[in-house]
Amino acid sequence: MRLIFTDNYKMLSLRAARYLAGQIELKPDCNLGLPTGSTPLGMYDVLVRLHQEEGLSLAEVSTFNLDEYQGLGRDHPRSYYNYMKENLFQHVDIKEENINFFDGTAEDIEQECHRFENKIAASGGIDLMILGIGRNGHIGFNEPAEELRSHSHLTELAEETIKANQRFFQEEEEVPGQALTMGMGTILKSDRILLLASGQSKAWAVKELMKKRVSPRFPASFLRVHPRVTLLIDQEAADKI
Ligand code: F6R
Repeated sequence: MRLIFTDNYKMLSLRAARYLAGQIELKPDCNLGLPTGSTPLGMYDVLVRLHQEEGLSLAEVSTFNLDEYQGLGRDHPRSYYNYMKENLFQHVDIKEENINFFDGTAEDIEQECHRFENKIAASGGIDLMILGIGRNGHIGFNEPAEELRSHSHLTELAEETIKANQRFFQEEEEVPGQALTMGMGTILKSDRILLLASGQSKAWAVKELMKKRVSPRFPASFLRVHPRVTLLIDQEAADKI
């Protein structure tokens, strides 16, 4: 695992966006795996700027988002699709047909997960997967458990994750308790992985990740078996290592 330290969140976002832009320049029709959450917001901001001011084009890029809340349709304000639209897609030249998402409203969830897996495979696999990390070490919505699922699946969110994600919802709204997520195997099939961790609240998870052990009790530890992972962290997240 390669480590890149940055001073703060701003530098981390800049570095992450440059890394992603480098991938697009190298292979304009690349397949990107993308996360939502707070961590990548700065990176998406910089990407939009690179598109608007430096001519970075996403016209040939395909994206595959890691996860989506179960029960939320694309047009739901709190869906991850809507998050991506607001923070990236509507500001760049990506083609609608190249945006791939789980359908959170699919009736047959198993079939939906198959469809998504098949689409990734048919597109030639993910070239670069960008990830955030949960405070408890979750990746996508692969939460700590006795065992992990390798393929895309429906999963229960951990209590801690529901609490952490409450900030994206209005007070009276409930965070959905289930989500569709890529499995750890889906993620590990990516050619390269860039994991972002920022802030004090991720310091414990980063410390755990440094231990050279692999356990489903700490899903991020599975990234240790992948040959091309870069961990990009800021000073606060690196506090305990
Ligand atoms: C989001 C996702 C999650 C987040 C993680 C960190 O699509 O898959 O695993 O990356 O929960 O979230 P933030 O960045 O909000 O701390």
